[in-house]
Amino acid sequence: MIVPLDIAPEAIQSRLTGRSIGRRLQVVAEIGSTNDAVMAAGQAGEPEGFAVLADRQTSGRGRRGRSWASLPGVGVWTSILLRPQVSPLKAPLLTLMAGAAAAEAIATTAGVELRLKWPNDLLLDGQKVVGILSEMTMTGQRIGHVAIGIGINVHHRREDFPDDVRDSATSIDLAAGLRANRGEVAAALYDALDRWYAAFCGDGAAMVLQAARMKTATLGKTVTVDTGTARWQGTAVDLDEDGALLVRDAQGTIRRVLADDVSVRC
Ligand code: BTN
Repeated sequence: MIVPLDIAPEAIQSRLTGRSIGRRLQVVAEIGSTNDAVMAAGQAGEPEGFAVLADRQTSGRGRRGRSWASLPGVGVWTSILLRPQVSPLKAPLLTLMAGAAAAEAIATTAGVELRLKWPNDLLLDGQKVVGILSEMTMTGQRIGHVAIGIGINVHHRREDFPDDVRDSATSIDLAAGLRANRGEVAAALYDALDRWYAAFCGDGAAMVLQAARMKTATLGKTVTVDTGTARWQGTAVDLDEDGALLVRDAQGTIRRVLADDVSVRC
């Protein structure tokens, strides 16, 4: 199977300005999940910055065991390998960082300003354009390696979305009223991640957090927190230093909500 020209490695790498992310890039026509490929590459000792981009995923995965529809020709389905030397407690910040980078890339290439729905969705007017799935291994008490999986809906028309998300999802083309270039979006994404990740590693976790706060539409909203066994409502008031959501409940108590434990609706 042949990789479409718009996402050919040369089309992406000729646009890169960053030092690390995407410099080693594998583009494939079809794969199960790019996250699986990057986790396996991490296991095999591949250096960080390695990225896998697929035209189509046959078993694309989302958070909480959901599947992620990944049709050919319409999206940027990619995962990036990182080896951050930080406490696992800081790992949620990587997902927020990826959200900030994806928002920046889409603003630059398509002029569309997306907002972050904590912790891992980017939305336009309440409709999802980007989903992020971060997975990691642990070596003792330290992070081993991380796959940051990013799915960007680029060329979808309404009928391309599965029934269950048709009303809640949109694409860059639909949102911006133009035909975006997938290679350009991918290169801008890798470049933005390169900058943000360099900042994150160089004592810039606070900067990542500040950028995430500015972009997070969830703050100030009433949210429903669903732990699987209990459901409660509150007001999202802030992100803490590890990227957890701070929610004031009906009794006025500030409760710390971790992305792994819950689904949050607002
Ligand atoms: C979500 O919204 O639940 C997260 C969706 C993440 C989808 C991306 S597409 C590239 C990478 N590979 C996967 O299997 N999933 C992520």
